[in-house]
Amino acid sequence: MERTELFARSIGEDTDIVEKEMYTFPDRKGDLITLRPEATASIVRAYIQHRMYAADPVQKFYTIGPMFRRERPQKGRYRQFYQINAEVFGVASALIDVQLIFVLMTLLNRLGVVDVQAHVNSLGCPDCRPQYRRALADYLLELDDSLCKDCRRRRERNPLRVLDCKVPSCRKAMTDAPSILDHLCAVCRRDFDLVRESLDSLGVGYVTDKRLVRGLDYYTRTTFEIQTGALGAQSAVAGGGRYDGLVKVLGGPDVPATGFAIGLDRLAEIVGQQKRLQPKSPDLFVAALGEEGQRLAFLWSNRWNEQGLWTEMDFGAKSLKSQMKRADKLDANFVMIIGDNEIKDGAAVLRNMKTKKQVRIELEKIVESVRETIQQH
Ligand code: HAM
Repeated sequence: MERTELFARSIGEDTDIVEKEMYTFPDRKGDLITLRPEATASIVRAYIQHRMYAADPVQKFYTIGPMFRRERPQKGRYRQFYQINAEVFGVASALIDVQLIFVLMTLLNRLGVVDVQAHVNSLGCPDCRPQYRRALADYLLELDDSLCKDCRRRRERNPLRVLDCKVPSCRKAMTDAPSILDHLCAVCRRDFDLVRESLDSLGVGYVTDKRLVRGLDYYTRTTFEIQTGALGAQSAVAGGGRYDGLVKVLGGPDVPATGFAIGLDRLAEIVGQQKRLQPKSPDLFVAALGEEGQRLAFLWSNRWNEQGLWTEMDFGAKSLKSQMKRADKLDANFVMIIGDNEIKDGAAVLRNMKTKKQVRIELEKIVESVRETIQQH
């Protein structure tokens, strides 16, 4: 929860998020507060508030948590959704942007996600963006009828937002819009060349997407999105970019920054679609006979759990047959039966459910023995 003003100033007054999607309420004193629609603004606020730049302006953070946007819910789009955020403060070089994209692609790759593509663009800087805005505003002036109501209103105040509009007629009208990449100043152009060359040298496949402006106003230079065809209408699994001016705008020093957010719900959906996760099975099932057996099984199974062996038992004093059925159902790797004899001599029969081999073993040595066998497989 933050003061509404924080999001209005950072994400931008004319964005969909601030205009339509925020959950905003007056508190008891009438101050406007908002459930965070994203994490970056809050992280910047904390970085400034706690003077984290004082000891060393270079700081890296990650956060995982829920965000709130009042969008129309559908597959992959929720009003409460989860993001993994990564933010880097104090590094001006575009190489760190490339590293962030590389980290994202490596993560997706390790998760076995194949149907994804990195889209990259540059949004220029305060030196070159105004000139591009004018060129875009001039183009938009001639498009009156084809633009939606929001875009007609925005085209003067924030024409870049029209590039981001999802309304089909607006998308069509923007096909021949001027490209930001033709309006970059020499410094931004060199910077974007470095991004592309470095992605090439790391072997990261990407498309240069001149339409990618992202839905938030704070971006400068590198912006990127990881898109997928696996989620229907919702194509972005992750997005991010550089936001060099934001720390200063929100009252901090002039520190450059860059970062990304992964949509965790979307990531989980794609991973689930592409990979059937194997449910795990317990290492050991302890079957108990009699009251004393139950007591001992309870003590030992908790001890073994504490030592890192996943041990299950039945708490209901059922027959041996039904306990064995339960062990089978759980697909336990080992089963041990604890009854009167075991209470006397501190040893029991351990049955390997895969090989069906049985050994008599001291209770003290169970963890070591089970672990050894499981590691061998
Ligand atoms: P964003 O593109 O608005 O960027 O959101 C990042 C990701 O969150 C999206 O790519 C998507 O996967 C997920 N997401 C967004 N809205 C929803 C929703 N309604 N339901 C499910 N998932 C959703 C940001 O939020 C920036 N703060 C990213 C950033 C960090 N830029 C720099 N640092």
